[in-house]
Amino acid sequence: MSNHHASHKLRLGVNIDHVATIRNARGGDHPDPVRAAEIVAAVGGDGITAHLREDRRHIRDGDLQRIQDATGLPLNLEMAATDEMLAIALAHSPHAACIVPEKREERTTEGGLDAAGLDNHLAPIVTQLRDAGIRVSLFIEAEERQLDAAIRLGADIVEFHTGEYAHAHLDGDSAKVTSELKRIADMAALAVKNGIEPHAGHGLTYENVQPIAAIPQLAELNIGHYLIGEAIFIGLEEAVRRMRDLMDEVR
Ligand code: PXP
Repeated sequence: MSNHHASHKLRLGVNIDHVATIRNARGGDHPDPVRAAEIVAAVGGDGITAHLREDRRHIRDGDLQRIQDATGLPLNLEMAATDEMLAIALAHSPHAACIVPEKREERTTEGGLDAAGLDNHLAPIVTQLRDAGIRVSLFIEAEERQLDAAIRLGADIVEFHTGEYAHAHLDGDSAKVTSELKRIADMAALAVKNGIEPHAGHGLTYENVQPIAAIPQLAELNIGHYLIGEAIFIGLEEAVRRMRDLMDEVR
């Protein structure tokens, strides 16, 4: 079978938060993250990711519906595990809700959600999202303890935090790069074995994306900051297209 069979395609979700960060720097309506979502859809991106933070530092409440209405792409709503965000997610019915840590005490040492430590707090939130037909994703470190918690909680998806990998890459620490890739690959395989769809993201760039994209079990990468930064120089269309090409090269 060809390597390019559709089932092997790695989806690219584009996080458009930082278009809103620039907009908010002047408090007006420009640049509009909705226009970014339309461009992502036009160049064949597979999804839009947006994080409605408790402090609303980038995406605002009113953006969510506009983003959902603008394209047919699935919206992956990143949210803290709070009652406020749960109510917003239930009101908007995004395709997926990705639970992320916002407070220091909700993070593991490397930065993913401490699903294992917050098990009791997360359980009712995961259940309510799933009962509403929203796919639940947990943004965790690629660690067995966190994956076990995701399995127990009944998450549909785990998104592995690639921040440590990205740092090791920047530092030129090849031993650490290798060990980070191995733990992500091992946990992706274990996730699939347990019926959970593995995704990955955070800190991915043109320089570091390919070894992650080559992990065959991964179904989706979510990439934001670097793409929006590149868009300043080469345009969002071209930035997304290049990332897509780099991902496809290794599949
Ligand atoms: N995935 C999740 C769950 C995130 O919270 C973020 C943003 O921090 C990303 C992916 C994208 O990370 P980046 O903006 O570094 O590409």
